[in-house]
Amino acid sequence: MNKKVRILMLHGPNLNLLGKRLPDIYGPMSLDEINNCILNYAQEKGIQVDIHQTNSETMIIDLIHKAQGYDGIVLNPGAYTHTSYAIRDAIEAMGICTIEVHLSNIYAREPFRKKSAIAPVCIGQITGLGWYGYILAIAFLINSQGDKDAI
Ligand code: DQA
Repeated sequence: MNKKVRILMLHGPNLNLLGKRLPDIYGPMSLDEINNCILNYAQEKGIQVDIHQTNSETMIIDLIHKAQGYDGIVLNPGAYTHTSYAIRDAIEAMGICTIEVHLSNIYAREPFRKKSAIAPVCIGQITGLGWYGYILAIAFLINSQGDKDAI
């Protein structure tokens, strides 16, 4: 029998405020509602998705360090996207296929959001598709098992 695909899903700072925080930009759904959609999709596909939200850069790095054995990481680093070389280095060090996801289109907003310190060490980036970006990232990981050449 094939091994069950395991994905680590990390929501970074301020994403616990979804639903209340700038709904015109980030949408009306709470993080719990988004996570339920992710978990329903995971169940449909017969895969495991472990989900964490933290406001701490240190915690994100520690979770990435413990990600050995996962088939992929889906990460919304929030504002750490634009500043965190430490998260970037953790992803590079672990070598696990990682997809950066943003709810909003970071290229259509303030200039400081147009730069990602994280994207260069990710297999790809999904931005501006709302919560559905998480589903697309997971679908990619299921189909490719982290290898772009496999699809
Ligand atoms: C975000 C975009 C970031 O610029 C911002 O700091 C966030 C959310 C997004 O999902 O669109 O916190 O990552």
